[in-house]
Amino acid sequence: MFAFLRRRKQRKIEAEAAEEAASIESASGESDEAETPEEGQSPLTAVVAVRVDSTDTVPEQDGIEEKPAEAPSLNVETLVSPNVRVEPENLQKTESQVCRVIAVANQKGGVGKTTTAVSLASAVAESGHKVLLLDIDPQANATSGIGLDHRSAPGIYEVLVDGLSLTHAVMSTVQEGLLAVPSSIDLAGAEIELVTAMSRETKLKMAVNEVRPFFDYVFIDCPPSLGLLTLNGLTASDELVIPVQCEFYALEGVSKLRETVDLVKTNLNPGLEISGVLLTMYDGRAKLTEQVANEVRKSFAGNVFETVVNRNVRLAEAPSHGLPINKYQPKSSGALAYRAVAKELIGRA
Ligand SMILES: Nc1ncnc2c1ncn2[C@@H]1O[C@H](COP(=O)(O)OP(=O)(O)OP(=O)(O)O)[C@@H](O)[C@H]1O
Ligand SMILES: [Mg+2]
Repeated sequence: MFAFLRRRKQRKIEAEAAEEAASIESASGESDEAETPEEGQSPLTAVVAVRVDSTDTVPEQDGIEEKPAEAPSLNVETLVSPNVRVEPENLQKTESQVCRVIAVANQKGGVGKTTTAVSLASAVAESGHKVLLLDIDPQANATSGIGLDHRSAPGIYEVLVDGLSLTHAVMSTVQEGLLAVPSSIDLAGAEIELVTAMSRETKLKMAVNEVRPFFDYVFIDCPPSLGLLTLNGLTASDELVIPVQCEFYALEGVSKLRETVDLVKTNLNPGLEISGVLLTMYDGRAKLTEQVANEVRKSFAGNVFETVVNRNVRLAEAPSHGLPINKYQPKSSGALAYRAVAKELIGRA
């Protein structure tokens, strides 16, 4: 009883305070203050901030449970808030109606697959295209490298194993025009869980085909193996980019990758083409680097990107900030190199 009276008194005080605040606000003419961007903040950021604020809860009423207000609608065109799940109805069809799906693969570890997938996806999006980045590596390096928190949302595991539509696993990133689907360590179990599944090699292809109308480019960051996950990546793709590190064992394993590509072409995906080998971690001062580059160019005649990606410490630092290189250090040699690779790739259509 006393608690009830206390609550009523408290509400009366709050109502008076709110009335007073409203009269001060209208007198100072600042009622739309939230719409005005803060210094250094873009107007788009302000719009998103205002919309997100609208999730405030409805004030408690006697006998009525506290309910969240209606969820804010997120428009992909204007979305600048990263790490937010994008509702399927907010995905918009592209004008080009041509989607290039590109796997970034090489079963050799640490050659720059993830750095290439993230940097290239972001550079292509920066040049005005609609891009999706798919992380199909259980290490989830592309996921963290692009600043996504995979624990907060479903990802590629749920798509491959539980049959979730890819449209329900898409998240926004710091780069406008670039959306991403996260991976997680759970994916390590997927290779085993999928062994007995029907059409186990074409699961990703089915999922990717569903999102083709919404993107100009889809990049797939593959794990360092030729297992079921990479097989799914190659089967879902139209093209393949092979990063090759300029070191002594560079071509080791590349012949195995070529064999796998041929097998995939014969049995699962006749349209798959190698769109380019990319020389990474290039050190112009080392004689060995030059020899390796020449050997690769001979082996993949006409199929090697003109641009080489030099060793650049900024590229190694960027993932720890959860930013693609074009956002972390836009003028670094790494950012410039990947912009040039993006230009070559777009021109190779
Ligand atoms: N051009 C570069 N200059 C300097 N460091 C680089 C460059 N490219 C990649 N790195 C660094 O080298 C390491 C391996 O790169 P990355 O993770 O991209 O390779 P990966 O092929 O995806 O590896 P994995 O096979 O484990 O998936 C990372 O620490 C990355 O930051
Ligand atoms: Mg990787």
